Amino acid sequence: MAAPGKGLEGVVAAETAISDIDGKEGVLSYVGYDIHDLAPNATFEETCYLLHNLELPTEQQLDEIKEQLGREREPNDFVMDLMPQLAQNTAPMSMLRTACSASSANDPDGWDTSEEANYRKAMRLIAVFPTLVAYYDRLRNDQPLVRPDSGLSLAANFLYMLKGDKADDAEARIFDICLTLHADHTMNASTFAARVCAATLSDIHSAVTAGIAALKGPLHGGANEQVMRMIKEIRNLGGAGKARDYTIDKLRNKVKVMGFGHRVYKTEDPRATHLRRMAKELAEKSGDGSNYEISQEIERAVMDEKGIYPNVDFYAASVYGYLRIPTDLFTPVFACSRVSGWTAHVREQYADNRLIRPDHAYVGPERRSWKALSQR
Ligand code: CMC
Repeated sequence: MAAPGKGLEGVVAAETAISDIDGKEGVLSYVGYDIHDLAPNATFEETCYLLHNLELPTEQQLDEIKEQLGREREPNDFVMDLMPQLAQNTAPMSMLRTACSASSANDPDGWDTSEEANYRKAMRLIAVFPTLVAYYDRLRNDQPLVRPDSGLSLAANFLYMLKGDKADDAEARIFDICLTLHADHTMNASTFAARVCAATLSDIHSAVTAGIAALKGPLHGGANEQVMRMIKEIRNLGGAGKARDYTIDKLRNKVKVMGFGHRVYKTEDPRATHLRRMAKELAEKSGDGSNYEISQEIERAVMDEKGIYPNVDFYAASVYGYLRIPTDLFTPVFACSRVSGWTAHVREQYADNRLIRPDHAYVGPERRSWKALSQR
């Protein structure tokens, strides 16, 4: 058991109107709309509008945001010059962290920090992230770049730029739902990091860069990649029949199973419900159910042994695997969605700002006198 307050558990760090979680009931909502209502009905573009404007868009407003997110997909020249180097020398999340930071260099709004400029910068970041990830993958594989198609949704366009072929509508829609499911999640570590940075009145690119840095870790967004590595390991051991023993062995050795547990949810993470269903659907469609079957066995074993539920990262791994997204791009894909939430939170922080500066409990030695080198 962690000491009370460790990891700021239970501490209210900020007021927000963007999203809410009821961890006991397993409810997630964006601006009052239940994720179970949004996931099957809303598009990611509608979700972006909702998070940033706190209302669902009218038809005209939706057209405008789609046009904006379609128009701003190309990275600026400064970033494009860096991309080949980044593709050869950095891991995907490090590329995204650097490219996001570098995107501030030639931003058309420069150092304008007005509310309007920050909204436009937010849209540019949401628009460009998928291109950065797809270009990175194609550059590192010596493949020609596939330029963004502004006529496609953000989700369909990402799959197109990554693979060079247009995804079928069903797959594009599943990926679109994944983006909506990952878009925001209250005061998670990366959003908190972004808000802490924004609260110093640093710029929006810096705040989002801080968010990416925090998302990278395996206890946060990095978990989805680790889940797929575990599934592959189990497949190499012989498949679903080996999953239970593998999982129980880990748990009995006090090794955490990635994709399980949550600080806030004490029941099923509502996002996992949708991701499990989509993983099953894709497994059936692909004719290769192995990832899904292994996942099901792991889930049963963790529940039986520890009573812990899967979180968003667990079935996201299978879904992305079936969509043939390379495993080391899973966390950058998470960022492509969460940038919508980070930027909304950063703007919310600016709108009613106070420096975030928590207190501490000192546990070091009592006051001491300095000793000269010869006396130590
Ligand atoms: N596997 C095995 N045991 C676990 C797991 C797990 N995945 N998660 C929690 N526990 C146990 C933990 O060992 C501890 O047991 P005990 O009280 O006997 O020592 C208890 O549950 C509480 O765990 P904790 O680590 O103190 O909980 P936390 O609220 O600090 O951490 C967490 C939450 C998500 C970091 C943690 O559950 C974890 O490390 N999970 C694996 C990594 C993961 O899937 N991360 C993605 C989180 S959701 C999406 C996101 O934010 O990106």
